[in-house]
Amino acid sequence: MAAITLSDIRKSYGATHVIKGVDITVEDGEFVVFVGPSGCGKSTLLRMIAGLEDISGGTLSIGGRRVNDLPPKDRGVAMVFQSYAIFPHMTVRENVAFGLTIAGASKEEKDAKVAEAARILQMEHLLDRRPSQLSGGQRQRVAIGRAIVRKPQVFLFDEPLSNLDAALRMDMRMEIGKLHKQLGATMIYVTHDQVEAMTLADKIVVLKDGQVMQVGTPMELYHNPANAFVAGFLGSPSMNFLDVDVREVAGNRVTVSNAALEPVTLTAKRGGFTAGGKARLGLRPQYLTPETDGRAGLLHGSVALTERLGSETVIEVTLADGKALIAALARDAIFDIGAPIQLSFAHDEAHLFPA
Ligand SMILES: Nc1ncnc2c1ncn2[C@@H]1O[C@H](COP(=O)(O)OP(=O)(O)OP(=O)(O)O)[C@@H](O)[C@H]1O
Ligand SMILES: [Mg+2]
Repeated sequence: MAAITLSDIRKSYGATHVIKGVDITVEDGEFVVFVGPSGCGKSTLLRMIAGLEDISGGTLSIGGRRVNDLPPKDRGVAMVFQSYAIFPHMTVRENVAFGLTIAGASKEEKDAKVAEAARILQMEHLLDRRPSQLSGGQRQRVAIGRAIVRKPQVFLFDEPLSNLDAALRMDMRMEIGKLHKQLGATMIYVTHDQVEAMTLADKIVVLKDGQVMQVGTPMELYHNPANAFVAGFLGSPSMNFLDVDVREVAGNRVTVSNAALEPVTLTAKRGGFTAGGKARLGLRPQYLTPETDGRAGLLHGSVALTERLGSETVIEVTLADGKALIAALARDAIFDIGAPIQLSFAHDEAHLFPA
C-alpha cells in the first residue's frame, strides 16, 4: 500500500515561509495533480515527498509510515523531472538500467527489467541509441523508463512534458494516463497546464502561495469551485468575472445587476452577500449564448473581436459598462465588429462569489 498523507506540512527558508500548512491525502493507486501559479510551492512539495528537501514542520507518511527523516532511496518513490536528467554519454539501455547498476543488480535482472520497461514505453528499438539521437518525447520516455525499472510504489512527476511541443505533449499525456492504469502505482503530477490536470487527474489539488485552495475531482472543481481563484484557474478560455451590485438577498437566492446586466436572481452556493453590497459574478465563456433573433438577453454590449477557429468561435464583447467579456460558441459564426449584441447565460452555471 502506498497511500501518502501530508499533515500540516510546512517549509521555510530562513524567515521565508513557502509552504504554510498543507493537508493532502493521496489514496493508494490514485493519480493526483498539483496545479497552481509559478512559485506557489508545487516543486517544493514534491521534493519534500521525494526526500530531496527537508520538511520544516508537519508529518509526511507513505504507506502508513512516518517518513520525514527517511533518506530518498528508502521511501519507495521515483521522481521524473522536467529536465530529463539523462546521461548523454550512456545509451538508452544504460540510462534506463542506471539505478539498477548502482544497486548492484545482476545482468540478467537488468536485462529483464529494461526489456519490460522498453515494452511498456514502446522504445525497444531505441535501446542502443544515445540521448542525442532521440527526440524530446523519446528522451522523456527514457527518464520515465528509468523510474519504472525501480518498481517504485509512488511516481512523482514535476512538469515532465513542459519541454515538448503541443502535439508531442498530447501524445505523452495519453501515454502517462495509460501507464498509470497499467502499473496501478500512486502518482503525483505537477503541472501548470490545466488540460493535463483536467484529463489525467483522479483528484486535483489547487495551490496558491503555499496553501491549498481546493481539492476535488476535475469536475467538482470545474462545476463547484470553492472560490474565485479556483474558478479562474481552471477552464479555457478563463471564466469571466463581473463586478455586480447585490439588489436583494432571500435565503440563498441573490438578485444582482450592473450597468450591463439586467437584474437576475441566482442561487448562491455560499453566503456572504448583503443587499446594497457588491459581489463577483463568474461566467464561463462556454455558457454564454448570443440572442440573435430579437430576443432579449441579460447582458448588453457590442462585439469587439471575433476569432473563428472552425469548431468554435470566440468573441470578445465590450459590455455596456466598458468591461470586456469573452464568449465561446461551439460552432462557426460571423459577427460584425462594433455590432450591438445581447447575451444570455445558463443560470445554474453562473457562480456568485463575495466581492
Ligand atoms: N532555496 C530557496 N530559498 C528561498 N526560497 C526558495 C528556495 N527554493 C524555492 N524558494 C521559493 O519557494 C517558492 C516555491 O517554489 P517552487 O519551486 O516550489 O514553486 P513552483 O510552484 O514549483 O513554481 P514553478 O511553477 O515556477 O515551477 C518560490 O517562491 C521560490 O522562490
Ligand atoms: Mg516547479
